[in-house]
Amino acid sequence: MNTRPIGVFDSGVGGLSVLRELLRLMPDESYVYLGDSARVPYGTKSAETVRLFAGQCTRFLLDQGVKLIVVACNTASAVALDEIRAAVDVPVVGMIEPAAAAALRSTRSGQIGVIGTRGTVNSRAYPVAIQALNGSAPAPTVHSFACPLFVPLVEEGWIDHPATRLVAKDYLSELFSASDTIDTLVLGCTHYPLLKPLLHALLPNVRLIDCGEYAAHVAQTLLAQHDTLTPQTTHADAPRVRFCLTDVPPAFVAIAERFLGFGVADVERVGIDHLEIT
Ligand code: DGL
Repeated sequence: MNTRPIGVFDSGVGGLSVLRELLRLMPDESYVYLGDSARVPYGTKSAETVRLFAGQCTRFLLDQGVKLIVVACNTASAVALDEIRAAVDVPVVGMIEPAAAAALRSTRSGQIGVIGTRGTVNSRAYPVAIQALNGSAPAPTVHSFACPLFVPLVEEGWIDHPATRLVAKDYLSELFSASDTIDTLVLGCTHYPLLKPLLHALLPNVRLIDCGEYAAHVAQTLLAQHDTLTPQTTHADAPRVRFCLTDVPPAFVAIAERFLGFGVADVERVGIDHLEIT
């Protein structure tokens, strides 16, 4: 079971920021990445539809023989994680819990900001997870704010563009008008880690929580607990990742390189008709 791949899925390219963290932490593992780019975005869709799509992505990954599934999409994690966990017999890692735990550890002021898609914010998954993890201690206040324009700006490669800076300032001033003592900000969408340098410049005293980083650690712990880590090799090969997309947009290779930091040579197209019947 050790050398079986880890399955990672997202609505499109955003989950590549999570894959990057997984590769950084576990370079000896192999991966199957499924991006549902034909049906992106998930963040604007109803919870019911996201649950349906997430279930189909999960089924596809299971058919590839994966030993663990990473739901590398905050929106899908927010609305579909319990259902996915109940339906499969491999460990499942979502984006919410690891980031919520990191935010709790980080905050001193007890004021936590969360930014994400409308779907994630409306689900209230972060405040609920933070509350649950906090137990009976005085509850921190969670201020959530949807930043939908960040997704297309990141995909356009406008990482440090004046327009992105303007949009970020506007979003953040609304978020911080709720509390100016927010000291921890969860980047609750897999596209947002690419904006870390910009957000850090705008919020130098706020700790930014990158979900992928913490989810990768949880994935590693779960693999160790199940005794399914791939043994470390002394030779660092090129990353072993199978990239599968439900649509291969012409800009994918350029965008993927921005997210991953390395080029993607082969991409398999998996039609959504295939996902619908698996
Ligand atoms: N990957 C999604 C997330 O993390 C953002 C893109 C989308 O709306 O599908 O929520």
